[in-house]
Amino acid sequence: MISAPLEPTRAFGLPRLNEPAPPFEAVTTHGVIKLSDFAGSWLILFSHPADFTPVCTTEFVAFTEIAPKLREKNVELLGLSIDSVYSHLAWARNIREKLDVEIPFPIIADLDRAVATAYGMIMPGESKTETSRCVFIIDPKAIVRAMIYYPLTTGRNMQEILRLVDALQTADAYQVATPANWEPGKKVIIPAPKTSDELEQRVEAGFECADWYLCHKTIDGAAAAAAAPIHTPATAMAVK
Ligand code: BEZ
Repeated sequence: MISAPLEPTRAFGLPRLNEPAPPFEAVTTHGVIKLSDFAGSWLILFSHPADFTPVCTTEFVAFTEIAPKLREKNVELLGLSIDSVYSHLAWARNIREKLDVEIPFPIIADLDRAVATAYGMIMPGESKTETSRCVFIIDPKAIVRAMIYYPLTTGRNMQEILRLVDALQTADAYQVATPANWEPGKKVIIPAPKTSDELEQRVEAGFECADWYLCHKTIDGAAAAAAAPIHTPATAMAVK
């Protein structure tokens, strides 16, 4: 950890929610990959500080464990660190040999920091040479929909990443919001009314409301449990 206080820096901008994800073309363990290769899929772009480090190794195993569930939800994974592709390949091979885990997703070798800089993954207060534990959830239209930043010392929570994907896909499919600690199958929130007409309609509609601005509803069974993996007009109409 760096102990001396740092001046805040403006040199490393962050992407912003609901804006286009910064485009990239990068060398990865699966060859050259561009952001546009993921058009039509959700993408989780995540960075880790360095190869051959213990917390990162546990995270790579954990990302591998949730990869099949993410695939079912039309979500691809893409890792990144400021290491060479040879280092990534050797680390992945080591994880296979020592832990019997095959890393299924590509890892960007961001030696020139082009992607890390575009996505604000380097937090100089933590490390000037490593990327923090960042997660960007990018939708099928290449829009940044969520960002999570964890410090170097804290491994990420995969259940929260799955929950966040489910929450975003549910919000899109049903035009709803999700309350604190929501999980698939639980009641969702009807977004607060923005006009007096909407307010009156809501009061008359018989939703479960604590008051006019805090109304919950249930989403139809199976579709909600699966959190609407790929949203279509048909699933969107399944709301009661
Ligand atoms: C780790 O993955 O164990 C780690 C990497 C960089 C800083 C601290 C921990």
